[in-house]
Amino acid sequence: MSITIDEMAVFCKREGFVYPNSELYGGFAGFYDYGPLGVEVKNNIKNEFWKAFVQQREDVVGIDGTIITHPDVWKASGHVDSFTDAVFICRKCKTQAKADASERDAKCPKCGSAMQKGNAINLMFQTNVGPTDSGTASFLRPETAQLIFTNFKLVQDNARKKLPFGIAQTGKAFRNEISPRDFLFRTREFEQMEIEYFVHPDRINDCGFFKTVEKMKLNVLTAEMQKSKKQHSAMALGQLVEKKLASGWQAYWLGMVHQWFLDLGIKSENLRVREHLKDELAHYATACFDIEYNFPFGWKEIHGNADRKQFDLQQHMKLSGKDLSYYDEESKQKIVPYVASEPSQGVDRAFLAFMFDAYDYDEKRGTVVLKLHPKLAPVKAAVLPLVNKLDKEARSVFDGLKEDFTCTYERSGSVGRRYARNDEMGTPFCVTVDFDTAKDKSATIRNRDDAKQIRVPIAELKNVLNNLIKQTVKFEKAGKPVKS
Ligand code: GAP
Repeated sequence: MSITIDEMAVFCKREGFVYPNSELYGGFAGFYDYGPLGVEVKNNIKNEFWKAFVQQREDVVGIDGTIITHPDVWKASGHVDSFTDAVFICRKCKTQAKADASERDAKCPKCGSAMQKGNAINLMFQTNVGPTDSGTASFLRPETAQLIFTNFKLVQDNARKKLPFGIAQTGKAFRNEISPRDFLFRTREFEQMEIEYFVHPDRINDCGFFKTVEKMKLNVLTAEMQKSKKQHSAMALGQLVEKKLASGWQAYWLGMVHQWFLDLGIKSENLRVREHLKDELAHYATACFDIEYNFPFGWKEIHGNADRKQFDLQQHMKLSGKDLSYYDEESKQKIVPYVASEPSQGVDRAFLAFMFDAYDYDEKRGTVVLKLHPKLAPVKAAVLPLVNKLDKEARSVFDGLKEDFTCTYERSGSVGRRYARNDEMGTPFCVTVDFDTAKDKSATIRNRDDAKQIRVPIAELKNVLNNLIKQTVKFEKAGKPVKS
């Protein structure tokens, strides 16, 4: 069963995933706080991204830069002059809104009348650095990427990386959006996980890993298809490169991120890759593809992947007067590295996509079952004594697991009620300690998605749960099936 974005916001608040910011004071448009369950899911998303694209790769290293930085950074990057959005104003009720590419002929969100294009507005939040009003004016970063460019030379020296290689960063970004909307989808404060992937400017197609993704088929909507009002269709990444729509490196990274979403449970039919139309490109980009998710309010961007050429490094060289070039030992040339691919992932939009994909109302159980991938689930296992009398035994099971997994211990309410509560929270496994536990030194694990149960020796619980979370073993094969 699908739900609307407003119903998702209500669900997230009720369960403790996400709260409207400053609700005590009537809320604050474009700002949201993550609650006890939400912060766990958000951290899990960030950890999975970092693990897959930084820690498990030899060609990517990470940094953690500041939110406020020298104002010249934003002059050089072009954000001061060009990071703007056009305001659309309702001809009738004067409501101001931003229109997406897909909504150019949009009607007023309030009264439905036609909108007219107004002035362009810069989206950066300005702030004053220093104790008085005469301090230096700067900006809260609107993307994490610039810190990667300003630190490029230092990182390359310290990490002793040769091209091609990437630098990654996760962290907050801020945009004074004209019309924040759709819950977490367009907010004024959000988080990004970004990689700038640097290559030799003459080798943007020489992707040594391309073979691993060449045959990967994804739903693709090219600019051409959009102009002729066609629907997306399945296309292999190899074709994208053959048709010269994307370079080898850009197609490779699109494939890697697309696969990351699939591996974490998103259904492939809910993802597509859309090529930007020429008039949508950001000021720094020559080619850009979005990964879009099929939200109840339409196909919308959750990930952007731009070819930024040498734009940023060249701009910083120009304005700072410092040399950021790279000596290529192979060609004995000094070159400015080329950003062939910039995988840029919004954490909050990924969160929203994972939540929609996982949300399932189970008619038979009469409850929501949040089928998050176990790696993303906020709580991996809930330990439940069947009755309060078994508190001591159950607590000792909980104590044995809590060092390795995010677990909860729950003793109040009927077991059925506790299962239902955990189904709604997305807890993949409930470990129940019953009257037989003392005799057979085993406990029952219940699977959230189909309510099946297996019996597992307590001594093996950690190992079994580990395999179940990583999905390296099928549930029925992980223990002795229990008849329900
Ligand atoms: N450095 C490139 C860059 O920032 P972008 O397409 O503007 O590119 C990248 O943003 C990602 O950041 C988007 O795909 C989206 O997931 C997220 N994002 C951007 N603006 C956002 C907003 N107002 N609210 C929530 N997420 C946003």
